[in-house]
Amino acid sequence: MLKKTMQQAMNDQINAEMYSSYLYLSMEAYFQSISLNGFAAWMRAQVQEELMHAMKFYDFVHERGGQVTLESIAKPDTTWSSPLNAFEAVLKHEQHVTSLINDLVDLAISEKDHASNIFLQWFVTEQVEEEASVGEVVEKLRLIQDNPSGLFMLDAEMGKRTFSVTPGTPGE
Ligand code: FEO
Repeated sequence: MLKKTMQQAMNDQINAEMYSSYLYLSMEAYFQSISLNGFAAWMRAQVQEELMHAMKFYDFVHERGGQVTLESIAKPDTTWSSPLNAFEAVLKHEQHVTSLINDLVDLAISEKDHASNIFLQWFVTEQVEEEASVGEVVEKLRLIQDNPSGLFMLDAEMGKRTFSVTPGTPGE
């Protein structure tokens, strides 16, 4: 049985993951508006990944006999000054999500909630990967600066990303 404090924290995290999905959907629209369809495709995959994260928490709360309560999702930004500006915002957001996951782990440890702690370890690893992959894109965009051919090459590379669920992860 999930304790009330952990149930509330996990409900907050469902909202944070849904907001992440909404933010990246807004970024997908931005990239479509400037005809960078590879970046837009990358964002579409990210939208699905964040929804999957939210659903993992949703399923886990139910598996532990808890109650999911959905709240309003905040309005995301709708435009960015450049692809680099957008991806710097993604990196900042993912660093924020990492801090939220770390806070959840701290709570699980302080409450001696071993099942939640084990569940959360997948997200700890996932955040390392998310920050690394987004950080790499930021670095490439900084190198490219205002070089259009570099941007088009990166756009083509970004377009190869597809969404896939990692087998054997909790909540599946
Ligand atoms: Fe659900 Fe991008 O962290």
